[in-house]
Amino acid sequence: MCGIVGYLGNKQAYPILIEGLKRLEYRGYDSAGIAILNGDLNLYKKKGKVKDLVKSIGGKSTAGTIGIGHTRWATHGEPNDINAHPHTSKNGRLSLIHNGVIENYESFKLALIERGHVFESETDTEVLVHLIEEIQKRDKLDLEEAVRQALTKVNGAYAIVVMDRDNPDILVAARKDSPLVIGIGKEEFYVASDGKAIIEHTKKVVYLKNEEIALLSRKGELSIKTINNDISTPFIQELDIELESIEKGDYEHFMLKEIFEQPKTVANCMRGRINADEGWIKVGGVNDLVQKFTEARRIIIIACGTSWHAALIGEYLFEELARIQVEVEYASEFRYRNPIIDERDIVIAISQSGETRDTLAAIEMAKEKGAVLYGIVNSVGSSIARITDAGSYIHVGPEIGVASTKAFTGQVSLLTLMAIHLGYQKGTIPRSYYLQLLEELENIPGKIEQILKKDAHIKYIAEEIKDSTNALYLGRGYNFPIALEGALKLKEISYIHAEGYPAAEMKHGPIALIDENMPVIVIATNKSIHEKMVTNIQEVKTRKAKVIAIVNEGDAEIKRLADYIIEIPETDEPITPLLSVIPLQMLSYHIALMRGCDVDQPRNLAKSVTVE
Ligand code: G6P
Repeated sequence: MCGIVGYLGNKQAYPILIEGLKRLEYRGYDSAGIAILNGDLNLYKKKGKVKDLVKSIGGKSTAGTIGIGHTRWATHGEPNDINAHPHTSKNGRLSLIHNGVIENYESFKLALIERGHVFESETDTEVLVHLIEEIQKRDKLDLEEAVRQALTKVNGAYAIVVMDRDNPDILVAARKDSPLVIGIGKEEFYVASDGKAIIEHTKKVVYLKNEEIALLSRKGELSIKTINNDISTPFIQELDIELESIEKGDYEHFMLKEIFEQPKTVANCMRGRINADEGWIKVGGVNDLVQKFTEARRIIIIACGTSWHAALIGEYLFEELARIQVEVEYASEFRYRNPIIDERDIVIAISQSGETRDTLAAIEMAKEKGAVLYGIVNSVGSSIARITDAGSYIHVGPEIGVASTKAFTGQVSLLTLMAIHLGYQKGTIPRSYYLQLLEELENIPGKIEQILKKDAHIKYIAEEIKDSTNALYLGRGYNFPIALEGALKLKEISYIHAEGYPAAEMKHGPIALIDENMPVIVIATNKSIHEKMVTNIQEVKTRKAKVIAIVNEGDAEIKRLADYIIEIPETDEPITPLLSVIPLQMLSYHIALMRGCDVDQPRNLAKSVTVE
């Protein structure tokens, strides 16, 4: 949450910062700001999105070859111009951008106020920049050392960049528990929360490690030390992102692009990992740990948001196919519960960004208790990918839309491969079923393609229910997590209150809400419980709800009952979620668009949640 970007070199900083901020807006978009040095400090901050900042700057002076910029997801202090970053020190000499939370800022703030500091904003960040300045002045330190000393005093998470009006030839950057990448150009440096912000300019990067401080100089020198004052050697890597993968192309929104990319991204996730003709599955990370997995007392899957829904599907898959006991945990609950966990457990973390604070903290705790950590991650080189003992990337490419779509199907594809692989290794599924599942998995991209062709029909249904204020999603078995995910997609981007429920459990509460104004979206593709779903639909219809049913092609029985149906190709039950989620993503997209919502940047949400 919050995106930060900095530039030091011989080009004009302004366009680089603005473009970088636009690429980081998925991290938060409550307000934006930039500071550029050109003799004086030019500081511009605005509530709203980067485009609002640009508009407010208009023709004002933006010249300068060193600058920092920020796009905010508010924690301390409401989103307004004043709380927007960058924040400046008491004498205006230092300016600072920050992603994270300084937890003990209040005590410093009170002490600084006593010593004559005046604070304009309600933020923790402004306190940090005042603290750095005070330490710098008091002990006559250079900026890097003042930053280091200040950081030894604060608790919490930070990725910061500090700029000094009196020394326009350096930037100081540091991080702890919030990501920061340094891009290396020709006698120039870029700093950003994420490589996407700088990919246009350089692919040579250094990922700053936890509690490291970097000094970047105009001469092209980069030095890194730890917060304990030990020298670190920068490790230069190549960014593995292509520019077109972070652009919308011909699509109106990133979310739409990402929904329509799924035949390709699911295929990419499975590429090299499966061959139905030859009858094999290879999931690199699992191969190294097959024995650990098959002998594990249980698997604990930790995640947040949409990734948590993928984890629930993982529970059904591992238990049914590989007969391994699974527990699925919300990262934020797990970490504060003193859970029972030891070296006999395997902990799988699922995360698109690989940076979600709660997930990261939860697996750090599991690691301390001796569990083996496995990561299922999209962002290459991210913190979760680095801390886990083994893992698999889902290879779906950068996901920019805040509401997750292709990452979800990538995560579910990977979990499906793992469960089939382990089931076959353990002998809990026969070879014939194993081969059938492999063949069916290879058919999935084509079947997703067929569902995407129903866009016009889904749009028509969206029109019919777009004005609802509530919606209920029902599913059973493998489609229960899909009901949760369908409801989450709708509420995230259209602001319609939606709940996902196990279809049978509906009788214990949500049925009280059902009337003619309540659309009920029923995911009824599981053959094994078809009759039960029919009964559930009858119960809902009797109470006059509008029923939208996702069914297998040719399901005449539900067609007679439901108001609208969306037919999807049939597949084996454990693989169903990869298909049944697609129409729900499309439905949410169209409804949100019809309601005039900002599909890619829904209010209050952020894609990479790096605060607790
Ligand atoms: C945020 C995003 C969701 C995402 C969740 C977990 O809430 O808006 O789309 O599912 O974080 O993020 P992760 O990167 O760990 O999968």
